[in-house]
Amino acid sequence: MTNAVFRVVEITEETPEIRTLRLVRQDDEPLRVRYRAGAHVDVLGPTGVLRQYSLCGAPDDPNSILIAVKREPDSRGGSAAMHQVSVGDELEIGAPRNLLGVAAEADRHVLVAGGIGITPLLSMAYELFARGGEFELHYFARSREQAAFADLLERVGFADRVRPHFGVPRDEHPGVLRTIAARLTSATRVYTCGPDGFMGQVAAVLGEVVGADRVHVEHFEAADVDTSGDRPITVALDTGEEFEVPAGKSILAVLEDNGVEVFKSCQEGICGSCVSGVLDGVPDHRDNCLTAADRESQMALCVSRAFSERLVIELY
Ligand code: FES
Repeated sequence: MTNAVFRVVEITEETPEIRTLRLVRQDDEPLRVRYRAGAHVDVLGPTGVLRQYSLCGAPDDPNSILIAVKREPDSRGGSAAMHQVSVGDELEIGAPRNLLGVAAEADRHVLVAGGIGITPLLSMAYELFARGGEFELHYFARSREQAAFADLLERVGFADRVRPHFGVPRDEHPGVLRTIAARLTSATRVYTCGPDGFMGQVAAVLGEVVGADRVHVEHFEAADVDTSGDRPITVALDTGEEFEVPAGKSILAVLEDNGVEVFKSCQEGICGSCVSGVLDGVPDHRDNCLTAADRESQMALCVSRAFSERLVIELY
C-alpha cells in the first residue's frame, strides 16, 4: 500500500472497549487524498500489525480522518496495541479504499448498524446529510453505554434521522427489522455493517422488500470456510504464465512465490486489495468483500479457489 504518516491529535474513549482516534497528516497539511463515505484504510499499528479500519468521520473534513478501534478480547497486538496509542503518536495509513459506498441513483437510503458496524455507516450518514439525501440510520447495540458515538449521534445535524435500538434482545431483532421493512419500498437502498449473523438477518428481512441486490453488506470478519476438500488447481495469467496451486496454499501465495507482484493487505478476503479479474474458469468464492455482481467477473486471490481445474485471471 502507499502509506502516509499521520499523527494522532485526539482520542475519545467511546466505551470501555471502543476508542476513536482522530488523525492528521504528519506535516499538518490538508489531506492529499479525499475519500468517499464507506471507505476503509490499512493502519500499521505500533507493533507492526496491519489492520483495516473504516473511516467514520465526515468525508468533507479536509484536514483529519477518524477511526474507531474495538479492543478484541483475544487481541495479540493488533487492537490491544491501538488501545495503547497516545496523542502525538504517529501511525502509517494506507490509501482509502471503498467496497461500500452510497448508491448514487437511489432515492432513499436505510443504514442499519450492529455494534462497531456503526463506523462506515456513520460516514455514509454524514455524506447523505451533506448532499440532502433522504435517509435514516438504525443503530443496534447491547446498551447505550456500549454504543460508540451515542453522545455524538444525539447532537449531530442529522440526529432526527437516527433510530437507536439499544438493549433490544437478539431474539427480538427480526421483529424490529420487520417494522423497518414495512416502511421500505423497492426504490430504497439498504446498507448494513455489523456481526455476520446480524447482517444476515438484515439482508433476509429487508432484502425481501428491496431485493437482495439492493442490500449492501460490509464485513469485518473472514468467512468461515471448510477447506478439507480442496484440490490442486492451475492458474494462468492473461500474460500466458501458468502456475500449479496445491491444496493448502492460496493463489496469492503461489503467485508471490513465483515473483508475481499482487496488491494485498488483509489476506482474509475482507479488504478487496487482491481482487482480480476472472477471464475463464469457475471460481469458488470464499471472500467476504465482493458482491454477487462483482463475483461474476472478479475474485479475491488470497482466499478463493476454483471449482474448475483451471482459471485464467487478469491482475489489476
Ligand atoms: S488481501 Fe484482502 S481480500 Fe485479499
